[in-house]
Amino acid sequence: MCGIVAAITNGLDARASVLHGLKTLEYRGYDSAGMAVHTGDSKLAVRRKMGKIANLEAELASNALPESDQVIAHTRWATHGAPADRNAHPHTDDGGEIVVVHNGIIENYLDLRAELVADGHVFLSDTDTEVLANLIARHMRNGNGGIDLHTAVRTALTEVHGAYALVAMCATEPGTLVVARQDSPLIVGVGDAAHYAASDMPALLHLTRDFVALENGESAISHADKMQLCSASGDWIERETTLCDWTPEQAEKGGYPHFMLKEIEEQPDVLARTAFDRFHDTEGDVVFEDTFTLTDADLRALRRIRFMAMGTSSHSAMIGRWLLAEFAELPGETLNASEFLYSPILPENDTLTVIVSQSGETADSLRAMRELQKRGGRILGICNVQGSTLAREADDLILTHCGPEVGVASTKAFFGQVTALYLLAIRVGRARGVLSTERGLELLHDLRALRPKLDSLFAPEAMAAVRQAAAFLATVPSCLFLGRGLQHPIALEGALKLKEISYIHAEGYPAGEMKHGPIALIDEHFPVVVLATPDRTYEKMISNIEEVRARSGKVIAVGVAGDQQVQNAADYFLPVPEVPPYLAPLVNVIPLQQLSYEVALALGRDIDQPRNLAKSVTVE
Ligand code: AGP
Repeated sequence: MCGIVAAITNGLDARASVLHGLKTLEYRGYDSAGMAVHTGDSKLAVRRKMGKIANLEAELASNALPESDQVIAHTRWATHGAPADRNAHPHTDDGGEIVVVHNGIIENYLDLRAELVADGHVFLSDTDTEVLANLIARHMRNGNGGIDLHTAVRTALTEVHGAYALVAMCATEPGTLVVARQDSPLIVGVGDAAHYAASDMPALLHLTRDFVALENGESAISHADKMQLCSASGDWIERETTLCDWTPEQAEKGGYPHFMLKEIEEQPDVLARTAFDRFHDTEGDVVFEDTFTLTDADLRALRRIRFMAMGTSSHSAMIGRWLLAEFAELPGETLNASEFLYSPILPENDTLTVIVSQSGETADSLRAMRELQKRGGRILGICNVQGSTLAREADDLILTHCGPEVGVASTKAFFGQVTALYLLAIRVGRARGVLSTERGLELLHDLRALRPKLDSLFAPEAMAAVRQAAAFLATVPSCLFLGRGLQHPIALEGALKLKEISYIHAEGYPAGEMKHGPIALIDEHFPVVVLATPDRTYEKMISNIEEVRARSGKVIAVGVAGDQQVQNAADYFLPVPEVPPYLAPLVNVIPLQQLSYEVALALGRDIDQPRNLAKSVTVE
């Protein structure tokens, strides 16, 4: 999904600050990048380059854009039109009057393009965004100078079907940026005699921490000294700014070689930041902020809970379903959000749906949320980005306090989600009267006691074991991750981490399935990663290890430090601290994250920006 950054200031050159912001958004897409400025003399200037932002920087160094206080920029994840200079944003109309950067998909762009070609417009790219630029230009021209850029943009968008977050400039309207959004994220930053726009807040933290989020169908006219917000129905409206509590440093690497490594190592602090301030120690309960409005009566009335998410977040959602059953005696299901949209329609009256999403912008998850709300369903969002679409549109919200997660491979956000789901299970269990005060106090104590235990996962001996296993795993073409019960989602998560950053094929399976097919794959070139920490499934996991070894398969086992039975049975042993079985997911996921990181490092992969991926999948 693409990254957009724009700035309009009162005479201050904005090129460098926009470029800095663009670099923080590179995780959103890195197929090509570009920048456009208003030169002041009723002209627009554009520079674009295929590849990463570094290529654009080289272009700007050799072929500089003129200084400007009106700058828009874009880093692309290709949808329509292969990665190429000609398909890079920003795009102008064929007359060079309008320039646009866009994140989203215009589904009817071919029809619109055919109309525009019939009108005599000439196209240079394969993109849907160039169609937008020409559509806006046509409306400007049809207005014979009588309509402004904002009106032309809104009129053009009435002809568009699809998702968009866009920023437009017009050569004959200096001092004006027009922004608009539908289903793709866009926020406006409010600065001192300056206004900004971006796809995500981290891009602007070096400039401001005051933001206004645009809702679907809304648009805005930004000048240096003021911003006018227009509602979906076309009325001028006011909206309070929101203060973002992230600091610019949190959005930077802080000396780490990769964001992913920084974010893996932040996880013990994420536990504290997401959990500890919400403990109600005297009651053995949890207290959420006022964005969580579900009362004890609401929670007692529930007969079913449904979890929905995509990718890594669906793995934490699976853990959530288990925890709510275990501690709140509330039956539930976990659904892939994109699959939900094609599943049978059931009554929603006694159901709560929990949508889990780091970004709060995943198109599949948002569409499922809106479909459920249309059916009268109630949505609880668990999200890491304050002000995101999920955070604003869910009926209830639990924010994870992980800080910005920049690495495309999600790590600390998963950890924060599982932490929040533990808290939710305690809250719901206490509200439904099935979790005693004493048991609640025990669970809170276990969570607090977990924090110091996590440090051993980053100790030199633990890292040495991970690197040894990674050196082997980097040599294989494919592997299996196996776990049972609460460890099955961790097996899925470990497999996803490995495949998405090392490009080694990996599958996560419930360990009980191994003999029902996957065992046919096992040989000396097809290893298995096994989660074998003490719980109800431990003995069966030992059997799985023996079955793999009996077929010459190599085994990488996650086990409690000092567990000789597992250590002797495996070829590679990744030690973890012993914790109550229900907390094992928070512990066992970390060596798997570290393993995937070390394998990708050994293979020289682009760890923070793996090929073909983007941090937030804002198209279905
Ligand atoms: C996880 O490492 C992947 N980057 C991806 O599966 C991600 O979890 C998924 O796209 C969901 O994103 P969300 O949590 O922002 O909704």
